Amino acid sequence: MATKFLDHGRIERNVTLLSVLAFIAVTIGGIVEIAPLFWIDSTVKKVEGVRPYTPLEQAGRNIYIREGCYTCHSQMIRPFRDEVERYGHYSLAAESMYDHPFQWGSKRTGPDLARVGGRYSDEWHVQHLKDPRAVVPQSIMPSYAFLADRDLKVGDMSRDLRALKRVSVPYSEAAIAAANDDLKAQADPDADHDALLGRYPKVKFRDFDGNPGRLTEMDALVAYLQMLGTLVDFDAAAAQEQAR
Ligand code: HEC
Repeated sequence: MATKFLDHGRIERNVTLLSVLAFIAVTIGGIVEIAPLFWIDSTVKKVEGVRPYTPLEQAGRNIYIREGCYTCHSQMIRPFRDEVERYGHYSLAAESMYDHPFQWGSKRTGPDLARVGGRYSDEWHVQHLKDPRAVVPQSIMPSYAFLADRDLKVGDMSRDLRALKRVSVPYSEAAIAAANDDLKAQADPDADHDALLGRYPKVKFRDFDGNPGRLTEMDALVAYLQMLGTLVDFDAAAAQEQAR
């Protein structure tokens, strides 16, 4: 009985045989898991409405990262009832597919910001960033008043977009070439917005910081905050699902 080649008693007492067989088992498991990834285009399910950031939003996102907002704020609503009731529909993978680096996080000293877009007015955000305690008396968030006094450096948004394109964010050559113009147009309510709208559907354009004469870092950061979580129309998606 114990003479069979693949007998457990024999395998477990023979280190070499055990190692070889374990290696074969792990290899098969690895191939089964990894190989399919080479034949699919994307591991992220496409969702209607998700688009790359506009140059102004991207500039705001850069400031968000520079200032370390992520050390207190996450951007991922988990599919739990308490989170969904507080923050809205749970985050979809597609909603952060153009985030490099992503801002999911798990450290929540402040609330999750994945769907903060449109929840408050621009004035509220500007006031809150300048002096958080003026609008939320018990807040422990630091003040970022200096952002309203700093001109947004526009110079190299094309290079920014090109770098993102290298990591597969689908910016067209036209979008890259027009990056600086698009950035200024989004913060200027009087500019021509057709090209901007064509490239970035649903883009919100206006003076974000309440100071129309000047393009500041505050403009960019508020533009970014106001679009967070607003690209996917969950009501329309739910209606479509019902109609099926
Ligand atoms: C030291 C931790 C900390 C840092 C850093 C921080 N925040 Fe906050 N943030 C908070 C806390 C706490 C609150 C909740 C109280 C309040 O609304 O001020 C908050 C609230 C907010 C809100 C309101 C969210 C809501 O749903 O009510 C926004 C927007 C926000 N922060 C944006 C930012 C941005 C942008 C930055 C970076 C420029 C930043 N925060 C940096 C702690 C922080």
